[in-house]
Amino acid sequence: MRISVFGIGYVGVVSCGCLAELGHEVIGVDVTPEKVALLAGGRSPIVEEEIDHLIADAVAKGRLTATADVADAVARTEVSFISVGTPSAADGSVALGAVDNVVASIGRALRDKPGSHAVVMRSTVPPGTGEDRVIPILEQAAGRKIGDRLYYYSNPEFLREGSSVKDFRAPPFTLIGAPEGDDAAMLRAIYAPIAAPVHVAPLRVAESVKHISNVYHAVKLAFANEAGAILSSYGVDAREAFRLLCEDRVLNVSPAYLRPGFAFGGSCLPKDIRSFLALAEDRNIAAPFLKNVLPSNIANIDRTFEAIARHGRQPVSLFGLAFKQGTDDLRESPFVQLAERLLGKGFDLRIYDRFVQVARLMGSNRAYIEREIPHLERLMVISPEAALSSSRIAVIGHVSAEDRPALLAALSGHIVIDLAGIAELRAHPGIDYHGLCW
Ligand SMILES: NC(=O)c1ccc[n+]([C@@H]2O[C@H](COP(=O)([O-])OP(=O)(O)OC[C@H]3O[C@@H](n4cnc5c(N)ncnc54)[C@H](O)[C@@H]3O)[C@@H](O)[C@H]2O)c1
Repeated sequence: MRISVFGIGYVGVVSCGCLAELGHEVIGVDVTPEKVALLAGGRSPIVEEEIDHLIADAVAKGRLTATADVADAVARTEVSFISVGTPSAADGSVALGAVDNVVASIGRALRDKPGSHAVVMRSTVPPGTGEDRVIPILEQAAGRKIGDRLYYYSNPEFLREGSSVKDFRAPPFTLIGAPEGDDAAMLRAIYAPIAAPVHVAPLRVAESVKHISNVYHAVKLAFANEAGAILSSYGVDAREAFRLLCEDRVLNVSPAYLRPGFAFGGSCLPKDIRSFLALAEDRNIAAPFLKNVLPSNIANIDRTFEAIARHGRQPVSLFGLAFKQGTDDLRESPFVQLAERLLGKGFDLRIYDRFVQVARLMGSNRAYIEREIPHLERLMVISPEAALSSSRIAVIGHVSAEDRPALLAALSGHIVIDLAGIAELRAHPGIDYHGLCW
């Protein structure tokens, strides 16, 4: 494949060297003449392991050239990779000026180019940038629409400086964002020699995966550093504690607890965050990151309440009262807080939870229910049908497998706020479905 790489900084140079190594014919393009001259002369403009010989080798073999001439680079290639900088603007948002410029210049060059051309965004851009910003600029400049000899993909780069050549050759996966109905065959072919799974996702999802990956790495670091400081003030070897934490691949280093949804609660998480913060307080350790975990959880309950209230003060049935499915434990349940919020705002409310129902009749939690939430107990009903018969809005927190058929059968005509991401609800034809964050 003949590929032009726009922006020969840390990402672009590695792409140039590694794509040439895969056998592609590559042209590096930049607005900085010194970088172009260095690359054209077979020398890397960046410092990075292995890159010097990769660049020298690619130029010597005639597989890599460099230019500042956009029209020439576009005319001589079938694909343009964009890896220009996307730094922070003064207000913290991302500055997309370089992206806009390069896309417009590629688009203008495409006006005169016969044949088809694909533009691939490798720079890190916020979700929606492709569809809402880049594609309109590209189509306007090229004078034709996506699909008409013009293609656009997001292909975020996940490499880390210092090991970027290794990361390019052995990535965790290749992620491609493509418009609906486009299987990105051309881009898959470019990466065919790399033995890594390829995931094709909607453009916005691909863009967001890169974004949240970096946010997640920062979150992990802030957590480890803050917790490490607190632990070490109590004489703990925090490196050893974290090494062992990572040994749990079922709950700790795993997809567990990484599905966006409703707030957490229960008898352990809120309590232990509070007690960990008390340890920090006791030793005067600043813990701004951990201090904001419980407020973040409250904000989730606020958002959920607003997602319900948006539909007006209509009767609500709430499915799930215990903090999660399969337990009758109501301690610090976010569903109790949501129910109280609804009640306080004058909503007509019915609540159904199979496990709490059992506890209410005979379980050990009966005393707790009568003591702590008598106002909610009065609203509990004995079946999904009873909950739905008088409601217009159904809020599905959790629902057991036994109850699903009855729930789905009686749900028609309801506005459904799904807090759990239940597939059968999404597919239900007779409801007005709203996922919490999907
Ligand atoms: N550095 C990393 O480790 C890394 C890893 C993954 C993703 N990213 C993302 O990749 C993108 C590039 O990062 P970088 O660190 O390589 O940036 P960089 O600043 O090193 O390089 C950007 C290059 O783009 C050039 N440029 C600007 N406008 C141009 C234009 N109109 N035409 C051609 N070239 C132009 C600049 O002269 C510069 O050489 C960013 O979005 C970044 O967030 C970076």
